[in-house]
Amino acid sequence: MRLTGQVALVTGGGRGIGRSTALAFAREGADVAMAARTGTEVTAVSKEIEGLGRSALACQCDVTDRDQVAGLVREVEKNLGPITILVNNAGIAASAKTTEMDDDLWERILRVNLTGTYLCTKAVLPGMLTRGHGRIINIASIGAKVGLLYSAAYCASKHGVLGLTRSLALEVAGRGITVNAICPGFVETTMTEESIRRIVTKTGRTPDAARQTLEALSPQHRLIQPEEVAFVAVMLASPEASGIHGQAINVDGGAVMF
Ligand SMILES: NC(=O)c1ccc[n+]([C@@H]2O[C@H](COP(=O)([O-])OP(=O)(O)OC[C@H]3O[C@@H](n4cnc5c(N)ncnc54)[C@H](OP(=O)(O)O)[C@@H]3O)[C@@H](O)[C@H]2O)c1
Repeated sequence: MRLTGQVALVTGGGRGIGRSTALAFAREGADVAMAARTGTEVTAVSKEIEGLGRSALACQCDVTDRDQVAGLVREVEKNLGPITILVNNAGIAASAKTTEMDDDLWERILRVNLTGTYLCTKAVLPGMLTRGHGRIINIASIGAKVGLLYSAAYCASKHGVLGLTRSLALEVAGRGITVNAICPGFVETTMTEESIRRIVTKTGRTPDAARQTLEALSPQHRLIQPEEVAFVAVMLASPEASGIHGQAINVDGGAVMF
């Protein structure tokens, strides 16, 4: 097992990529805390993890709220021990033409995807620096590297996550901490189901045709499974990955090749 003795905090750990990552970490021997707004979902994942024989903690937290984030880190460290792995995965998506963008929605997307990542990192990092060990893994997107149609807010937030990842990597280099990002293509989760529903509503296409539109964005003509993203997160969290730093690794079937 690669992560024995590690304590991971996975934001957005109640479903989708976060859930798969939390379970993958537990299978590798880590104790794992999941944080999201929906208590029932994080509780269900924590039960799955306990079923694997690991300690788990389900936390209700909105990552955009500085005080809730501070409380979250205190609660996890009190119950599971010092956090050695942080996965900034909580995120939201929405699409709109920029001219028709609701300003509140723009703010909300930036606040959850980018500021949430910053707040959680800022709360966990001092302990990692003191202990001289840590792994920070930011779930970005291929929308962090290229533009996506009608997704200016989402892409701006995810480009921002890459800027944060790379700058922080320089800041903590040589301190026993690595900071990296994973850039998935379209993954089979609730978020993508919502994208399919939006395409159906806006274009009148069938759900199957809408799904095929997203699949066709990948040279492999398929959606990525959440477990494929979790696999890379386990790799980045592993002791052997200490030289992988400031990187943004695509998991997208070859859609983006830089
Ligand atoms: N699905 C894709 O195709 C895809 C592609 C590239 C990147 N990503 C990124 O991968 C990450 C996970 O996406 P997913 O597809 O697994 O989405 P998902 O199934 O919708 O899950 C998102 C998770 O984030 C949590 N969350 C949202 N807002 C939050 C907030 N303010 N505070 C705390 N938790 C919050 C949600 O829980 P609550 O709603 O209960 O809070 C949920 O647990 C996101 O950052 C997303 O941008 C996804």
